[in-house]
Amino acid sequence: MSTKILQINQVSKHFVLGTSEIPVLKDVSFEIEEGSTVSIVGPSGSGKTTLLGLCAGLDQPSEGTITLNGIQLTGLNEDQLAAVRNEHVGFVFQNFQLLPTLTALENVLVPLELRGLKPNERDALALLQRVGLGHRADHYPSQLSGGEQQRVSIARAFANKPKILFADEPTGNLDAETSQSIEEMLFELNRESGTTLIIVTHDLDLAAKTQQIIPIKGGKIA
Ligand SMILES: Nc1ncnc2c1ncn2[C@@H]1O[C@H](COP(=O)(O)OP(=O)(O)OP(=O)(O)O)[C@@H](O)[C@H]1O
Ligand SMILES: [Mg+2]
Repeated sequence: MSTKILQINQVSKHFVLGTSEIPVLKDVSFEIEEGSTVSIVGPSGSGKTTLLGLCAGLDQPSEGTITLNGIQLTGLNEDQLAAVRNEHVGFVFQNFQLLPTLTALENVLVPLELRGLKPNERDALALLQRVGLGHRADHYPSQLSGGEQQRVSIARAFANKPKILFADEPTGNLDAETSQSIEEMLFELNRESGTTLIIVTHDLDLAAKTQQIIPIKGGKIA
């Protein structure tokens, strides 16, 4: 039996800037199977990051509904959304969003602390080692390169063993070899833990490795 982990139904999103409305997404609908791998592709500015944020419960759509793991996100308040995210969702941000006052290791521990779980430093260190950063565990984000910060944010997204992982250009700042090993980690998580993987990427070779490709153009499914 197939289960839908994500259902996006006629979602539109506009932002209000002063007196003008900026339409970003228009009538987007799709469904994602639990345990599958999906890529979202499209030109810069087409609405990919906005769409990912809505799917992950980081923001609310202007119209339409989003159901994540059977939970209707539309209508939930901030605290309820945060609880759903902490329990089910991992997110790798395009701009990393590490907490500047915490070390790499402490950043990886944040999702566990948010869930009220006992922080396990050994597991967090193992995750950092997997992304090749065991030797940088005590560094602050400002002491890390862009690619290193990206890898910390990937380790952090894995920390709460999410049911669904959203990754916005997870290999965008990395060299070919490091990209390859990060890709392998992502697909391994999918195979071994059944984590649903949703990746925004400009890399068509990476997109071709996913089971479903969602092309976005001008805020619509192309
Ligand atoms: N908070 C906001 N307020 C106003 N406009 C916004 C906001 N966030 C995004 N936009 C606009 O929405 C459009 C889509 O942005 P988005 O970040 O989703 O694009 P993207 O497809 O991820 O692009 P890229 O590939 O460059 O990351 C852009 O034109 C952007 O200016
Ligand atoms: Mg983007």
